[in-house]
Amino acid sequence: MYPTEEAIGLMRKANRIAALSGAGISTEAGVPDFRGPTGLWQDPELIKQLSATGFRDDPEGFYSSSMNLFSTMAKAEPTMAHKLLVRLQHIGKLDAVVTQNIDGLHQKAGSSKVFEVHGTYRTGYCPECGADFDMAPFYEDIENGRIKMPLCRACNVPIKPDIVLFEELLPEEAWNGAVEAMEECDLLLALGSSLVIYPAAELPSIALINGAKLIIVNLEATAYDSAATVVVREKLGDFAASAMAAFT
Ligand code: APR
Repeated sequence: MYPTEEAIGLMRKANRIAALSGAGISTEAGVPDFRGPTGLWQDPELIKQLSATGFRDDPEGFYSSSMNLFSTMAKAEPTMAHKLLVRLQHIGKLDAVVTQNIDGLHQKAGSSKVFEVHGTYRTGYCPECGADFDMAPFYEDIENGRIKMPLCRACNVPIKPDIVLFEELLPEEAWNGAVEAMEECDLLLALGSSLVIYPAAELPSIALINGAKLIIVNLEATAYDSAATVVVREKLGDFAASAMAAFT
């Protein structure tokens, strides 16, 4: 039996599916991944810039290095794989989506229970006074050259996007929700992730320990392939199109 057919068979039998998505679920929407052949981390400079130290030492450089990615995310539309998860939610098979992505495409697709364990680029906060901000107007001002970086008016310090940068802790509420989703599911769909970045990469283990089966859909090998019941080495768009047909 082909892996896609086997995966769809498991999805049919499952009652409580959870999804763990990575950057690979958004590449067909034009958002680059990190470790794929044309991933963002091919540029070591960018890795330094998009870190907590990079933001602290050079917030202007952080924003100038990020704006290309942020505007790509803002223009991106959900992929067939994002839509498949919404379909599974509508037929009562999928409880929660845990994502390592910051692009907000799961919510844009219509998923209602999304745990963003690496945060989001869409909102931000003032590190000084803690005030929260919608970042879209600031991104527009940066793109139009009106500002180089957003400042908190009250404190006159750079506003930071709600993104978990290297060296930072994951948001507690999202992490707790993600762990609960792993504990409760009977089938985990790991979609478009290399599954190498901890602590997010610990999540599939939690699902497996709780007796869930694991399906991995990823173009390249992942750290969990040997633990998966099914590995689908296909583009997520193709897999999702086949699976969507089976659940429509
Ligand atoms: N279909 C299937 N798989 C794909 C597709 C696609 N269309 N496009 C890319 N992939 C696969 C790549 O082969 C790669 O193995 O998706 C995987 C993405 O892996 P990464 O680039 O490592 O992204 P991710 O796993 O989300 O990274 C986790 O690392 O840098 C940090 O915070 C960042 O959230 C990110 C975390």
